[in-house]
Amino acid sequence: MFLTFPYTRVALLLATVLLGTGCAGWNYQDMADPSRDVWQKPQGVVEKLAIGRGARVADLGSGAGYFTWHLAKAVSARGTVYAVDTDPTALDMIFKEMVARGTPNVRPVHAEPHNPKLPEPVDLVFSCNTYHQMNDRVAYFRSLASSLRPGGRVAILDAHPRGFFSGLFGDRIAKEDVRSEMEAAGYRLVNDYDVVESQHFQVFAKADS
Ligand SMILES: C[S@@+](CC[C@H](N)C(=O)[O-])C[C@H]1O[C@@H](n2cnc3c(N)ncnc32)[C@H](O)[C@@H]1O
Repeated sequence: MFLTFPYTRVALLLATVLLGTGCAGWNYQDMADPSRDVWQKPQGVVEKLAIGRGARVADLGSGAGYFTWHLAKAVSARGTVYAVDTDPTALDMIFKEMVARGTPNVRPVHAEPHNPKLPEPVDLVFSCNTYHQMNDRVAYFRSLASSLRPGGRVAILDAHPRGFFSGLFGDRIAKEDVRSEMEAAGYRLVNDYDVVESQHFQVFAKADS
């Protein structure tokens, strides 16, 4: 009888789709689609980060690499971008695209949920639409501080919860929650940008730096 309530039916349908597919496979293609540029403004985002040529950057939760290629251009051939993901499907897509594009400065890294497995410290950890998916975030980012080079930063973009159903499946997180968790993990906010209408974009450094 409860199925006659329309919101319940919509929620059950969405839950079935999400549980059945996870984040992998079906939507990596969508995430990598160039039409995303219209709202995601990747060049505007990467420009704000003022990444130096030769820098080492981790794209944490790279997915199919939508931002990875923009970051790889910013670091130039002298730098390195680690495309870090827990999902082998995403890393396979990165690997194929690396070969197609001829970008030897990108290295896929198979992370564990609680460990990015970075092979060396980096100047910037960049993460788009991944923070909300992570567990034990305060512990994760506290530990990640040891993978930052002196002056290193962590840039987090994630979706604003907006609307009635927003955040129902934990698919978004409020900007204030990211900030308070990062502060609890030992960071301070250094920039709060307003580039993408639907996402917050905050940059953090170690509190003691
Ligand atoms: C919504 S997708 C975003 C992909 C990409 N950043 C983008 O904007 O197109 C989130 C990605 O984060 C990955 N992910 C989730 N938790 C992770 C973790 N603890 N460490 C590394 N990657 C993770 C997922 O496998 C998925 O590929």
